[in-house]
Amino acid sequence: MTDISESIPQQAVERAAELRRLINYHNHRYYVLDAPEIADVEYDRLMNELKALEAEHPTLITPDSPTQRVGAAPAKEFGEVHHGLAMLSLDNIFNEDGLLDFDRRIRERLGVEAVDYVAEPKLDGLSVNLRYQDGVLVQGGTRGDGRVGEDITGNLRTVRSVPLRLQGEGWPELLEVRGEVVIRKRDFETLNARRLEEGERVFANPRNAAAGSLRQLDPKVTASRPLTFFTFGVGEASAPLGERHSEVLARLKEWGFLVNDHVQEVRGVEGCQAYYQRILEERDGLPFDIDGVVYKVDDLAAREELGFTSRAPRWAIAHKLPAVEATTVLRGIIPSVGRTGVVTPVADLEPVAVAGVIVSRATLHNLDEVHRKDVRPGDTVLVRRAGDVIPEVIQMLPEKRPEGAQAWEMPTECPVCGSEVIRLDGEAAHRCVGGLFCPAQRIGALLHFASRKAMDIEGLGDKLVVQLVERELVHSPADLYRLTREQLMGLERMGEKSADKLLRSIDRSRETTLPRFLYALGISQVGQVTAAQLASEFGDLDALMNATEEELVAVPDVGPIVASSIAHFFQQPHNREVIAALREAGVHWPAIERVQAADSALAGKTFVLTGTLERYTRDEAKARIEALGGKVTGSVSKKTDYVVAGESAGSKLAKAETLGVEVLNEEAFEALIGE
Ligand code: IVH
Repeated sequence: MTDISESIPQQAVERAAELRRLINYHNHRYYVLDAPEIADVEYDRLMNELKALEAEHPTLITPDSPTQRVGAAPAKEFGEVHHGLAMLSLDNIFNEDGLLDFDRRIRERLGVEAVDYVAEPKLDGLSVNLRYQDGVLVQGGTRGDGRVGEDITGNLRTVRSVPLRLQGEGWPELLEVRGEVVIRKRDFETLNARRLEEGERVFANPRNAAAGSLRQLDPKVTASRPLTFFTFGVGEASAPLGERHSEVLARLKEWGFLVNDHVQEVRGVEGCQAYYQRILEERDGLPFDIDGVVYKVDDLAAREELGFTSRAPRWAIAHKLPAVEATTVLRGIIPSVGRTGVVTPVADLEPVAVAGVIVSRATLHNLDEVHRKDVRPGDTVLVRRAGDVIPEVIQMLPEKRPEGAQAWEMPTECPVCGSEVIRLDGEAAHRCVGGLFCPAQRIGALLHFASRKAMDIEGLGDKLVVQLVERELVHSPADLYRLTREQLMGLERMGEKSADKLLRSIDRSRETTLPRFLYALGISQVGQVTAAQLASEFGDLDALMNATEEELVAVPDVGPIVASSIAHFFQQPHNREVIAALREAGVHWPAIERVQAADSALAGKTFVLTGTLERYTRDEAKARIEALGGKVTGSVSKKTDYVVAGESAGSKLAKAETLGVEVLNEEAFEALIGE
């Protein structure tokens, strides 16, 4: 056999090995120990160096190289994995009697007084087997029917908490590690929210999301999903790993695996009972979904003695927790208007207990979901509640549908304010166009109006706005400018001093800028950058208010969705009224000279912002620069045209000086952007 590394410089071979070791080490610190030692950029630098080395010398690529996590080419179908040691299931118990029986059987068979158990959360995900040959991950498969599963090696490689190479020492030549792949509740929410926004079907629960993500033919899709692998035991191994299960878990941890923090050694049936109670109480707060706890005999020799039934071991049992899903009748669907104007269909349910809590409302997300699930008032539905997550209708039961059940449609008028309810092209959500006029949106709209990047009214926080709206002192932002000292002092926790202070900051906000004002209006799809761009394109508010969608689309970065949203906003008479009232109340801004981005001094120039500016937030300064055709980047290089340096600027300023890049202080920056 020829040594393929011969043609590659020894230095490169060594460096690649070193990089693999370093990256795997930091990966483990980050994903398993949750204790990173280096910054993300530093990690990226190591990864990029390794990628570059491997690109130059492809034979350097090893199966345990961290670059191989990113996802191999899509497969046509999965191959099979044959489990040498079957992946068995667990018997279930549902109450204390079941637990007492289990413990009694074990004590009798072993002839002991009390048994040492390891109690573990029963994670609700997908069971997998990882096969390591000489410490390197060579195969990963699903449980399948217990004997034959699917080969999903490429997908499992992308899971960061799966070690590609075992750490430390002492592992047997052949080692199979078993465990559960799960998605954190929080990550599940984010994933579903993203899917909803993109108009995709949402996953019913974290288990489905984990299973769906792992069974992707394209590993790149799996790589983009936030999966975590927890080990709960071993399969085949060429040498024993210890005398106790707890010892085995400790060794697996040393070799780089994640063992759930809630795994605990307990003694006797009392220990199991106490553990169950604790987990029951903590369940909602756990980051992962669990559907029970598992008690396992710790002593491995005792396990041998106990043996197996045809489907499950006698030395372990799953104690189920109350189900997080239940069926009930859907009494109706209520369109609920949120603070941002999004109208969400909410299920009005016959109250039902789900995992210890009575549920009578659940989200149906949006109209597409209602239709996709074909849920109709009168249906019997499956509801799910997991922890502090909003309860959700998962599906309807077709066999229980009453005759004549009518499909539900979104109302065309807002149930709160009567304004039109529209759905913008390309959006999954329906929105009430009432904006500031709609009481449901008022609190959110006012908080946004007063926020730092908008009108910057210091001291106008959440609690205060709620009081102002509830006492009907404020209907629209214009009312803020009419508040009196007496009115404010009648509010909770509001003394003379704070009332005066608030009045002063309201007064100060009268003097603003057009970009801030536009942003403050809270037009859907109009963030700071778009607001700044609109201001510099149109120069004045009236021109913008009368602009057609065609004119709006001509503004850089304004697409048809944004244009339609802006036009719609200004068409609403009540929005025009609020704007007129604000101007009447004295809100004003300096005129903006219209600049065509292409002619501006900033066109095509690259900026780096560093330190703190007095009159601009980072986002604002960035928005101004971009509105004038410039670009903002994160790091200083020879290609940088200007570095804008505020208070306590650090290394970027120093670098600019070394490279001879022009440095602007706040005044010089203002002069450049013409303010
Ligand atoms: S031990 C032979 N421990 O539950 C014993 N299983 O119903 C094998 N599961 O297929 C399983 N958490 O997917 C074990 N801490 C845990 C578990 C656990 C979740 C799953 C696993 C298994 C299923 C059995």
